Amino acid sequence: MRVYFFVLVLLCSSLSCVFADANENATAKNNKATAAAPKVVIVYLSRTNNTKTVAEFIQQAVGGELVAIELQTPYPENYQDTVEQVRQENQAGYLPALKTTIKNITSYDVIFLGFPTWGMQMPPPVKSFLAEHQLGDTTVIPFNTNAGYGIGSGLSDLTRYCLDCRVLPELQLKGGIERDGVLFVMEGAYAVSVKEKVQHWLRTLSVDNEKIKGLLQHQSAKEAAP
Ligand SMILES: Cc1cc2nc3c(=O)[nH]c(=O)nc-3n(C[C@H](O)[C@H](O)[C@H](O)COP(=O)(O)O)c2cc1C
Repeated sequence: MRVYFFVLVLLCSSLSCVFADANENATAKNNKATAAAPKVVIVYLSRTNNTKTVAEFIQQAVGGELVAIELQTPYPENYQDTVEQVRQENQAGYLPALKTTIKNITSYDVIFLGFPTWGMQMPPPVKSFLAEHQLGDTTVIPFNTNAGYGIGSGLSDLTRYCLDCRVLPELQLKGGIERDGVLFVMEGAYAVSVKEKVQHWLRTLSVDNEKIKGLLQHQSAKEAAP
């Protein structure tokens, strides 16, 4: 009887060891997924949702928060009216007032900044965002959609408004051609190829950048966790 009792005690304690080990492994895995993750925000301006879709693909790959830049007074619905308003704003150096503010922006390790090309420049609301948020030496990663004419002066606009930022190589993608009535294009096979381009771009950035490497590792550990 006594012998049976000891065997039972031994069995229970070794079983609880096994369970404790399993728990520790799971906790370690979760900690690995959460502890080392750099803090990331994906800020974007989008009128016809192309840049927004790219922002969402980036979020799927690296996590973090998505923040749309919103204006106090939105631009006109009409494309030509918007083009004209933007032209005048750029000429006057006018920075439109925003609804969007991010508190403690420098607490983020990485800021992705997405914008369409407008009048071959960074759109005035994105300039407003940079003028209103002191990013210091934060790592900023630009991404852009355009009608096929490229980012224009978007990158020099970025460094003009954010002198000390560490700007990593950007991603430029063909988006809509609103002038010709082509608005949202990020669907079907094209969306699949854009998503692959986003992933490839992030992997390339991660080769020389520990923060991006950390973000990608964190996200894949999260996906692998049960
Ligand atoms: C006011 C305005 C000006 C634009 N100017 C340009 C331009 O100079 N060059 C260009 O390639 N595309 C230009 N575009 C097209 C946008 O960059 C393109 O459609 C982009 O994909 C839109 O992104 P979104 O869907 O996120 O708003 C302009 C669009 C607007 C609304």
